[in-house]
Amino acid sequence: MSQDRAAGDGPLDNLEQWEDDLRDRYPEDVSALTQGSSKSAEAFRDYTTQVKPAVREFYRLNHRHQSLEFVQQKRQQYLSLDKRKMGLWDGLEFLNTLIDDSDPDTSLPQIEHLLQTAEAIRRDGHPRWFVLTGLIHDFGKVLCLFGEPQWAVVGDTFPVGCRYSERVVFSEFFRDNPDDQVPEYQTEAGIYRPGCGLDNVLMSWGHDEYMYQVVKNYLPMEALYMIRYHSCYAIHREGAYAHLLDDQDRHYLDYVRQFNPYDLYTKAADRPQIADLRAYYEDLWSEFLPDQLAF
Ligand SMILES: [Fe+2]
Ligand SMILES: [Fe+2]
Repeated sequence: MSQDRAAGDGPLDNLEQWEDDLRDRYPEDVSALTQGSSKSAEAFRDYTTQVKPAVREFYRLNHRHQSLEFVQQKRQQYLSLDKRKMGLWDGLEFLNTLIDDSDPDTSLPQIEHLLQTAEAIRRDGHPRWFVLTGLIHDFGKVLCLFGEPQWAVVGDTFPVGCRYSERVVFSEFFRDNPDDQVPEYQTEAGIYRPGCGLDNVLMSWGHDEYMYQVVKNYLPMEALYMIRYHSCYAIHREGAYAHLLDDQDRHYLDYVRQFNPYDLYTKAADRPQIADLRAYYEDLWSEFLPDQLAF
């Protein structure tokens, strides 16, 4: 497997580079505040000047190409969920073919991230659906293995079809998006009604929305919000797009904030012992999900 193929098609060395960069943007000490601790405008500027060129280029491509039309086309292509059926272990193994050739120390980055996230949630005594959410929240990254470029799989997500918020990272790159020239899409609410709720809003395409669609019939609403919006830092961390939210969003976004530190800050040196955890997670999966999940 060539390095390009392994990393997915795009400027990042690997998919984790985006998440590593998120830790630079939102260092762990600040996250102790959890309640949507947003960054000051100055801190945001500092961050964007120090970002690695590959990450900057990744955001440039993401913001340029994630138009309303692109999102509609990807939904059409994927939401029929007829690409592949996967259970827990074949899913994890498939994800692990997204190996990171640039880092020989982390041979199984995806499975380790998912197990570390889930184990941290479990250690804190949270409900079983929450632990399962930690385990599967990034399964949607299989999009890379279906041939999608990095910028259509990972990266911060944002609403499409309405005015871009400056609280989206690198919002200046939206100038290259064709939607920027469509006046109807650039009013504050754009194609939406103010207060319509995120359920009625199309988000940029990526692993969050895809995985939400895969599991939406099986998990409680709290888990579905965590999965669907975990990469929308502009909303859950920066408080942007408040004019689109409804009461349901305001309630459940707290769960996204509760989930976020487990996603970002549980990268541990001690590697999870997969063999020891196998029975527990098989049991947990089958409590909520069918043996074979349709992707
Ligand atoms: Fe993710
Ligand atoms: Fe994650």
